[in-house]
Amino acid sequence: MTRHSNPEWIAANRVQLDTTRAESPTIDSAHGIAPKEFAGLTAPLMAAHNALADRRKAGELGFYDLPYQDASAIARLGGELADEFDNFLLVGIGGSSLGPKAAHAALREPLYNLLSREERGGPRLFLLENIDPTTVSAVLRHLDPARTCVNVVSKSGGTAETAANYLVARDWLTRSVARPSDHLVATTDPSKGDLRPLAEREGWRTLEIPPNVGGRFSQLTAVGLLPAAVCGIDIVELLAGAADMEERTRSADLDSNPAYRLAALHYLADTRKGKPIAVMMPYADSLKYLADWFVQLWAESLGKAVDLQGNPVHTGQTPLPAVGAIDQHSQVQLFVEGPNDKLVTFMRVERFADPVTIPGAHPEVGAMNYLAGATLARLLNVEQAATEMVLRERNRPSVRITIPELNPFTMGQLFYLFEVMTAIAGGLYGIDPFDQPGVEHGKVLTYGAMGRAGFPNLLGD
Ligand code: PA5
Repeated sequence: MTRHSNPEWIAANRVQLDTTRAESPTIDSAHGIAPKEFAGLTAPLMAAHNALADRRKAGELGFYDLPYQDASAIARLGGELADEFDNFLLVGIGGSSLGPKAAHAALREPLYNLLSREERGGPRLFLLENIDPTTVSAVLRHLDPARTCVNVVSKSGGTAETAANYLVARDWLTRSVARPSDHLVATTDPSKGDLRPLAEREGWRTLEIPPNVGGRFSQLTAVGLLPAAVCGIDIVELLAGAADMEERTRSADLDSNPAYRLAALHYLADTRKGKPIAVMMPYADSLKYLADWFVQLWAESLGKAVDLQGNPVHTGQTPLPAVGAIDQHSQVQLFVEGPNDKLVTFMRVERFADPVTIPGAHPEVGAMNYLAGATLARLLNVEQAATEMVLRERNRPSVRITIPELNPFTMGQLFYLFEVMTAIAGGLYGIDPFDQPGVEHGKVLTYGAMGRAGFPNLLGD
């Protein structure tokens, strides 16, 4: 029996949500959501829930069913690549890189790439996301092409940054290896875009991003699962965590569905309580990139000019990432005493793999002796609770997400939780959370300015 099929282990590894500090009477009703405000959302929430259920049933929203996919081919390819290569270089951006980066940071050691092969259990992981020439040339200079697998990840198969970085990486491979196609893996749409036919023509290994899953909802497809499998993360357990959250997010009941409660809180905080900013603040370095992944999901999904009827609405909360305890010495002063315009979501980890006991060295030094014998993990979580209390005392709403420990099961829950939260929030705002016309427009202008056939140069740059 795997641990994620053991009911006791599952119960002990469920992510928990506490929203009381974002609600009245804990927070004054000018800033906290009152029970009657949640109740007032019942009808629109049900309408949004039913509309999403219809689209899911019609096969338009593939992300909902990803927890139940058969990922054995991805796991197999992951094992194969892990045996063949020392380095795995992911070339992608946005939804094609943020999720893999988040999972890796949360589930592998912080200095993973510095560990020995035995300690790592898989190839080193590198990413080419931005087209900053300094980063790209530094990464390629550092790696041995003969020992590197290049995974080109693009849903559309046409994103300029990914295309450019691929071309640079390909040239780098070609100068050193006899058969670059043996080093290349494409993760892309099964039929659309230019990457698929190119990869097939050249005989690369390929994986599919289902056509009904958009970029920022694709972490639980091959986009995120392949790099995870290559680096030794248990993707079956990751999907089991997502499936567990799928069950918890089925009903439209705000008391039992954590994704809907989070979405309702954020929506009401934004539209009724003057909170246009959503802070995502994990108290764990390893969750910094999960916050970054959430930022893209929330911003790109909800920042929309028009509603479903085409009326101008200009919706969207601005997501702001922060990391505890570092940001206690940076942004928290603003959160506590600046404009009361934020809803803060804390994520805290209950059990760290190594909590690190703080040794005692200076019993005579009052600024240090009280720490002796405590753990860094406890100090971190005490600081989270302290920040939360300071906010509450100033009538500033916050939410607490408790993660029993960081493992593939809890990370699978978190990815799925935030995706469902975003989908239903789109319904509450009355917009389409699955498109990104603003991003597409910028892409088209770039193509034109860079001379791509069929795209006029409107930039004059
Ligand atoms: O969510 C989205 O659709 C975008 O953020 C994309 O992930 C991003 O633009 C990269 O696109 P692609 O995967 O097509 O290269």
